[in-house]
Amino acid sequence: MLNIVLFGPPGAGKGTQSQKLIAKYHLVHLSTGDLLRAQIAAGTELGLKAKKIMDEGLLVPDEVVIGMIDNALQSNQQAAGFIFDGFPRTVAQATSLDRLLAGHGTGVQAMVALEVDEEELIKRLLERGKTSQRPDDQDETKIRRRVSVYHSETAQVAGYYATQAKFHALNGIGGIETIFGQICTIIDQHQPTAPKASATPATSVSEAQA
Ligand code: AP5
Ligand code: MG
Repeated sequence: MLNIVLFGPPGAGKGTQSQKLIAKYHLVHLSTGDLLRAQIAAGTELGLKAKKIMDEGLLVPDEVVIGMIDNALQSNQQAAGFIFDGFPRTVAQATSLDRLLAGHGTGVQAMVALEVDEEELIKRLLERGKTSQRPDDQDETKIRRRVSVYHSETAQVAGYYATQAKFHALNGIGGIETIFGQICTIIDQHQPTAPKASATPATSVSEAQA
């Protein structure tokens, strides 16, 4: 499996690049923000609780998002791999992701971090807020709080992957296609190698997939 963590502050371009990556590599996109917004749209109890926290630009409790990722991994067991977008956001989430993926016999190959300065992030999100339905894009104070929470609670997750030699940083300012090409170059270095052709053909589906 090919499992990539796409990392960066709010507005860095994680969602934009995820769409392009899933199309190219046939991966499943797992955005905890999107999963939470789906819960809000469905009016679930979880969604109601999460909405208050998200509208303030704060982080939803670890156990909630870890549970959502656990469910998503269970229901996508045939996937070629995953793009994790906006997850993990704390070191506790990162260690849980390793544990969950290990349970499926796989792991994270690489984290790609999109680096964008705060004024560009604010500009992008205020612009998107003119047309998006996202309440957390609607006012500059809340957007700045999301960026501040990223620095205080999330940025350290980069160090977790750096110690495993899986961390790659990219300049997230520039053309979307240019940045996409740079992400692909990194991912291509981490593609799991195809098994060598064997003289003895596999005799069962499980052997063929091993
Ligand atoms: P989430 O939905 O993850 O939002 P976010 O991280 O705040 O980031 P965005 O989705 O706003 O930005 P993005 O990086 O995806 O950029 P995009 O491609 O959209 O989280 C929302 C909330 O949910 C959190 O605040 C938290 O409350 C909760 N949550 C989610 N996950 C959680 C977790 N794991 N733990 C706890 N809580 C969690 O681009 C932004 C804009 O820029 C777009 O308009 C786009 O068109 C534009 N753009 C993109 N690339 C470029 C470029 N290269 N040049 C110019 N413009 C560009
Ligand atoms: Mg996003």
